[in-house]
Amino acid sequence: MTALTLSTSAAAALRADAVVVGVTKGPKGPQVAPGAETVDKAFDGKLATTLDALGASGAEGEVTKVPAPSGVKAAIVVAVGLGEAPQDGAGFDAEALRKAAGVAARALGGAKKAAFALPAAEAADVEAVATGALLGAYAFTAYQAEKDGRSTLGEVAVVGAKPRDKAHKAAAERAAAVAAEVNRARDLINTPPNDLTPKSFAAAVQAAGKEHGFKVEVMDEKALLKGGYGGIMGVGQGSATPPRLVRIGYTHAKATRTLAFVGKGITYDSGGISLKPAGHNETMKCDMSGAAAVFAAIVAAAKLGLEVNLTGWLALAENMPSGGAVRPGDVLRMYSGTTVEVLNTDAEGRLVLADALARASEESPDAIVDVATLTGAMVLALGEGRFGIMSNDDAFRGKVHAAALAQGEDSWPMPLPKELRKTFDSPTADIANMGVRLGGGLIAGLFLKEFVGEGITWAHLDIAGPAFHEGAPFGYTPKGGTGSAVRTLFSLAQQTADGDLLP
Ligand code: BES
Ligand code: MN
Ligand code: ZN
Repeated sequence: MTALTLSTSAAAALRADAVVVGVTKGPKGPQVAPGAETVDKAFDGKLATTLDALGASGAEGEVTKVPAPSGVKAAIVVAVGLGEAPQDGAGFDAEALRKAAGVAARALGGAKKAAFALPAAEAADVEAVATGALLGAYAFTAYQAEKDGRSTLGEVAVVGAKPRDKAHKAAAERAAAVAAEVNRARDLINTPPNDLTPKSFAAAVQAAGKEHGFKVEVMDEKALLKGGYGGIMGVGQGSATPPRLVRIGYTHAKATRTLAFVGKGITYDSGGISLKPAGHNETMKCDMSGAAAVFAAIVAAAKLGLEVNLTGWLALAENMPSGGAVRPGDVLRMYSGTTVEVLNTDAEGRLVLADALARASEESPDAIVDVATLTGAMVLALGEGRFGIMSNDDAFRGKVHAAALAQGEDSWPMPLPKELRKTFDSPTADIANMGVRLGGGLIAGLFLKEFVGEGITWAHLDIAGPAFHEGAPFGYTPKGGTGSAVRTLFSLAQQTADGDLLP
């Protein structure tokens, strides 16, 4: 894991393998951003000219590496584009700083220690630079032999930050905790499904509970059968590795509010008897990203001791076809008592979430937020870069959207149109697990709504798009598991602790 330090020394004087500086896009070419003054001085004030001559413009995502002149302790200067400089007086956009730091972290190669001399005057800047650097430095190498020259960044030093300033220190602590947990979620998502099973996932949560001081209860298949969890059991019954429902309980003695987070944890989604065709199942180890986000966000909150009660519900199962698997046409009796006709076994997420939502509702939390890689329809609607937000409360949906935006987690509010509800009526059971094809993401949301307790504020994040990134890395987003929604959930917990989210 990459360590984070705050440094008061001048960027040029700091002992490191590389020093990262910011470049903005000026009207007449690249300009050196604040934070890099001492480095520029070592270039005799000609760093911008040098970068210009090398073809740099200061555009977002651009990286230019320059050998360091004498007067700079580091061996190389990594200049990263920040885009256009903010208008007079305004600070740098947090997401621009996160992205630039992430891009630089990925461009550092084998560096052991890097100094980040990006604009970091305010605590929010320190948090953004640190978060971007720590997320950008992520690599998943657990299943690969050591390759030459590949080592993970050992230390990120944020230059310009003040280690004795309370706000700067808190910002750095938050960045370190949250980034480490986003990276934990990424590790879980990237772990192949032959190793990450409902059982091993639950064991990982138990271990974290011991380490960070929160309660973990695991319901195994016997407990689930006895408890009447027909949705989770039905989805898991075709797999050789039986399902689990995990309850995480983080409490703070001074907390007055309780948030419940519910995560879809399908450790592999083959589609079941309604099997997915080749081309649609290669990345389905990512179908537990919601549960990973819930788990990771609560660990971050526990590490930082947030003044809030958080309950996490991880609905863990593997969706497989076998002689024992649930069939299209079967009727399941859910935890809530509702009967559901399974028309398509590939619409399994809503079945496991239904039980977890009903169970979570029994404890009457102040609000419930569920996170799930739920529908391909949401990816078609919004693209792979953003998640959809649905809610039974428009004001709450707006607050969740604002929280996500502030974290740089792209998302968009989606409706729950009443008239679609009847499209999943069933001739046999109370409801079916599938409605019409068009608007499939909204239908899934409406299905979940059926299982949320009366009067409880609820939001549903469909992260099927952003959970797993198959293209080239960009900003602080790596290939593979992204850790989508961890920072949004954490922010909701933080805002609740601060008394800003719920009335
Ligand atoms: N896990 C999938 C959704 C998904 C798709 C996640 C793409 C990540 C990327 C989900 O279980 C699923 O299969 N949904 C079906 C529902 C349909 C059968 C009603 C879908 O979206 O096709
Ligand atoms: Mn599915
Ligand atoms: Zn699924």
